[in-house]
Order: sequence, then C-alpha cells, then structure tokens
Amino acid sequence: MANDKHTPRSGKSYDAEPFMDTGPLLRLYAARWVLLVAVIGLAWITYSTGSEPWRAAVVFAVILFATAFLPRRRKVTRLKARAQARRLTMVPDVHMRKLAAALPDPCFILDRRGIVRFANAPGGTIFGNVKEGDPLSFRIRQPNMLAALDNVLDGGPIEKVEYSLKSHSERVYEAWVTPIHLSAEPMGGARPDFILLLLHDQTEQKNIERMRADFVANASHELRTPLASVIGFIETLQGPAKGDIAATEKFLGIMLDQAERMSRLVSDLLSLSRIEMKAHVLPDTQVDLSKIISHVADALAPLARDQNVTVNMCACDDSRWIAGDRDELVQVFENLVENALKYGQDGEKIDIDCKKIVDPADGQLHYAVSIRDYGQGIPTEHLPRLTERFYRIDVASSRERKGTGLGLAIVKHILTRHRGRLLVNSVSGLGSTFEVRLPVADSDDL
Ligand SMILES: Nc1ncnc2c1ncn2[C@@H]1O[C@H](COP(=O)(O)OP(=O)(O)O)[C@@H](O)[C@H]1O
Ligand SMILES: [Mg+2]
Repeated sequence: MANDKHTPRSGKSYDAEPFMDTGPLLRLYAARWVLLVAVIGLAWITYSTGSEPWRAAVVFAVILFATAFLPRRRKVTRLKARAQARRLTMVPDVHMRKLAAALPDPCFILDRRGIVRFANAPGGTIFGNVKEGDPLSFRIRQPNMLAALDNVLDGGPIEKVEYSLKSHSERVYEAWVTPIHLSAEPMGGARPDFILLLLHDQTEQKNIERMRADFVANASHELRTPLASVIGFIETLQGPAKGDIAATEKFLGIMLDQAERMSRLVSDLLSLSRIEMKAHVLPDTQVDLSKIISHVADALAPLARDQNVTVNMCACDDSRWIAGDRDELVQVFENLVENALKYGQDGEKIDIDCKKIVDPADGQLHYAVSIRDYGQGIPTEHLPRLTERFYRIDVASSRERKGTGLGLAIVKHILTRHRGRLLVNSVSGLGSTFEVRLPVADSDDL
C-alpha cells in the first residue's frame, strides 16, 4: 500500500510538478483568446499606422512561438496544485478509505501528525467514539503503543505491539503500525504521509493458549500428588517401617488407592484426547438410546445401593434410535448418573427420563434424556464452568468420591461430536438436572 500510485478524486495526477506540462498545441489552444486579441490588435495598428503587413506577421509569429514553446505556469494554477498535493497528504484518498473500510478488524488511518483521518466501522467504537480530526494519542494510554506510533511517525519501519483493552472483559490485540508513503520511492527514514493502525483481536487465541498451559499444569499436578505419596510410602517401607507388618499392610492399601487414582486420571486423559482427535468425524453407526440408558442404570445399580439412592427410570422399552457411538454414549450417561449418585446422595433418589422433543434452538427433533437428583445442587456461579477440564466445586469432595474433574469435559466433547448438547439446571439446596439432547436418527419417525 505504501508504494501505491494514488489518484485524486478528479482522476488527474495529483503531482504538482508535471501539472502544466501540456504540450505546444494545447498551450496554443489554451491561449486562443489572447492570440485572437493579438491578431486584431496587430491588424488595427498596421491599418492605422499604414506600416508594412509583414512586420505585423513577424511580431505575430514571435508571439505564436513564445506561446507554443516557452514553458509557463500560472501562479494560481501552481498554488492550486500545491494546495491539492498538501491536502492529499492530510486526507487519505477514496481508495485508501475504501480499503480500510473493507477490513474486518478495527483500523485507523492517521496523518503525519498522528491525527485520525479515517476510522472504519469496528475502529469507530473501539476506543470510545473516535472521530476524524481527533489525535489518537488522547485515547491510547499504553506506553508501548504510543512509542510504536511515535517511532513510525518519525520515519521508523513497521511496528507490531501487543495492546490490551479493558472494557467489561479484557481483550488482547496485536496492533500493527504501518507507515504509508505516497511517493513511489520514499527516502530511507523519511516521515510517512500516513499511518495505518490495524488491531487484530487475539483474545480467543490467547485464551486457548492459556487453557492449554493450564491443562498441562493441572494434569501434571494431579499426577504428581499421588505419585509423590506412593514414593513417600515406598521410602518409609524401605527405611523406618521396614519389617513392620501392620504398617506395611496399611501403607500398601493407601498406595493401591493412589495408584488407582493415577490410573483413573490417565484413562480419562486418554479418553479426552481420543475424543478430541475425532471431534469433527460424525458417528456412522445407529444405536438404541433406550438400551444404552438401561445398560448404564444396571451397571451403576451396585453404586446406587452403596450410596442408598433409589433410581427411578422412565419407561425405556421403546427403541430410540440415534446416530452415535455406543461406547462414547455409555461414557456420557455413566458420568452423569455417577455424578448424580455421588453428589446428589443426600436426596436419596434420582430420576432418569427420556422424551422426544423439538429443540427450539434449531427446530429439529431431539431425544432429551434428563438425569435429576435431589441433593445439594450447584450454586449458579459454577454452572458456566462445570464442563471445563479439572473444574470442581469442591476438589477435596471430588477426590474423596474418586473424581478426576474430567468427567463433564469428556461428556461435553462426546456430545459435541454427536451434534448434541448438555443443559444444566440447578437450584442450590434442591438438586440438579443434567439434560442431554441428541438429534433423532432420520429413520426414527415420530
Ligand atoms: N449432580 C451434581 N450435583 C452437584 N454437583 C455436581 C453434580 N455433577 C457434577 N457436579 C460438580 O461438578 C464437578 C465436575 O464434575 P466432573 O467433571 O464429573 O468431575 P468429577 O470427577 O469431580 O466428578 C464435580 O466435582 C462436582 O463438584
Ligand atoms: Mg464425575
């Protein structure tokens, strides 16, 4: 963009110097009325003085020659050209504006004094209401951005800085400060005619990076804790408790618990990564949801007995076909029913229900499987974060119940792959309802 040849709105070249280089014929044409007056004047002088006509002809030839070949610039035209050239270095031309307006990111064109000469629609609101003619430095507080603008205004090369903006939530931008020179070959270090400031939103990318880093840190922490405990007990058994049968019995029990905890964690981590790998592949088999739900209820019956919880099942006799992966869907319902049994134990019962509904979100037929418990419930502020990896309302109570904090993250990933959704409804003190919505298979009619 810096080396583009720009044309002003009139369509003529804006350059001041070649402005009057019109050629002899055009110059004669431009001076036609003056020449006509000269002809009339010479004719009148010749007639009134009675001089030889050839003299008048020579004088006219000299005038013609001077008009056609002597370069001349009218002062007014010269001043106009200069003013236009100056205006063009203050106001970006229509092409520049159209390009900036077409960019999806917030974008500003500043003149060589740092004054906003154009802001596209996303840029118009990003720093409050920035108007043309405002100095941008009044709106920007961060020193690194101000320094980058100054450097480029002083003739420096393109700069890239990180810029964070705090409104209701913090957003992080990559700000590109690019000098624009209108002349085809700008001198090295010459001050630019304009500056293009482009802000590229990096918030989502930063969040993903942060989540990845958090995930690795959490996973290693979760593994390191039981590992350190196992190592500690082994050292005790090799040293101070060597030969102590009672201590050996007790410590081996704890070590088994810790090893099982690590094993659960590793298998959940592997599940997550397996599901992530096929996140965009739709399941290609048809499964009967009713059979899966009955299977899960049967498999968890011993746990329900241990917890003293009654499981009330919907009538699951009819087949309910969906496109799905059986093992993954078993994992979904196992996680949800297990959670209801463990965390909703106080309520002493859970209800499992399955209905065919039209999902208002897309107008499509879905099976809605709800798992409702009557336990402590979940405080509202936790609801949006429940499906984050390792997010637990109470870490100690989750560990006590052999939780890894990955169950609902796995559920969410599996449902996403199945084009399904998880809805959570909970009233603190009154229990929670986890509802799974899965699209009805095409062959399964109403
Ligand atoms: N039915 C429920 N009632 C109350 N809290 C629940 C329920 N289901 C899940 N939670 C909360 O959500 C957290 C995350 O659940 P999950 O991802 O399955 O991890 P965990 O391995 O801890 O069970 C749990 O630690 C618990 O605090
Ligand atoms: Mg769980």
